[in-house]
Amino acid sequence: MSITILGIESSCDDTSAAVIRDEILLSNVIASQGVHAEYGGVVPELASRAHQQNIVPVIDTALKRAGVDRHELSAIAFTRGPGLLGSLLVGTSFAKGLSLALRCPIVDVNHLHAHVLSHFIKRTPDDRVPQYPFLCLLISGGNSQLVLVKDYNNMEILGRTIDDAAGEAFDKCAKVMGLPYPGGPHIDRLAAEGDATRFKFAKPHIAGLDYSFSGLKTSFLYTLRDMKKVDSDFITNNIADLAASLQKTIIDILLDKLDKAVRQTGVKTVAIGGGVSANSGVRNAVQQYCDTHGLTAFIPERSFTTDNAAMVAIAGYYKYLDKNFCRYDETPYARVMV
Ligand code: KG4
Repeated sequence: MSITILGIESSCDDTSAAVIRDEILLSNVIASQGVHAEYGGVVPELASRAHQQNIVPVIDTALKRAGVDRHELSAIAFTRGPGLLGSLLVGTSFAKGLSLALRCPIVDVNHLHAHVLSHFIKRTPDDRVPQYPFLCLLISGGNSQLVLVKDYNNMEILGRTIDDAAGEAFDKCAKVMGLPYPGGPHIDRLAAEGDATRFKFAKPHIAGLDYSFSGLKTSFLYTLRDMKKVDSDFITNNIADLAASLQKTIIDILLDKLDKAVRQTGVKTVAIGGGVSANSGVRNAVQQYCDTHGLTAFIPERSFTTDNAAMVAIAGYYKYLDKNFCRYDETPYARVMV
């Protein structure tokens, strides 16, 4: 019998619902919240209110696009954390209510596991998926991790950021450059036209496989300050070179530890995931690295890199196979629980 999972994602500022049937994606609907743009960052209270407004139409649309009646659902998977508590509460409460009404189980999903498992979402039954074990470079607005994925329910974090995430480095430097929030996609666009060798920024020297990105942000500011270029037309006139040099430095930092992790583990497959894996430079660099080293690369579809419910549904699907259901008294968590 088919297994049909509704996924719900509400951890930050995207309300998303998706339907997966036996690993095949039937629909994936995302409502992004424009309300935060004027504040230069996500305002948690506004995010949870927007989720409340969006969640019914988004789920309704996802079911309609999938051509699935809600009574056909085998289970409802939802993001339980990490993320903004108020936002998570909306998705969690909705999943519980709907499951009680439909008498189907709920499955709680760790948002970071879902990013890793996004590579198992299939459009057609023949789509290729990674072989275990593989290494996943998980890079988002809040996390930068190197994860050894031994199975869908067995992941080991080999390294993580000790301060800022890669996405924060993009976003915070973009802010200094006067770009809108989130700055990552703007830097990506500008970098394509810039000279990446023009500016040199400091790279961290952290032992092992952990990352650090807060020094880069400081180095970026100091470079401009030393040249007495802050608040001048200089940024505007050289914005493409600044973007390209910054992006290149972030990629070098990411690839340096990725290479170490590949050597340590001896894996043959490398995947990337999370919002920053939408970055063209990162995607090209990882693909090139894998080609050079005889490794298989898994670069996700761009629509599966930022927050989406398709990845929640596929992660929920595997937990459903294990009958690993969630109790109704479980509550969301804001921070990483591994
Ligand atoms: O995974 P995500 O949607 O949110 C978290 O769960 O944190 O990632 C958001 C991050 C932001 O920092 C955003 O600037 C970054 O992903 N991002 C990018 C690109 N698209 C999104 N960074 C660089 N280049 C991009 N094209």
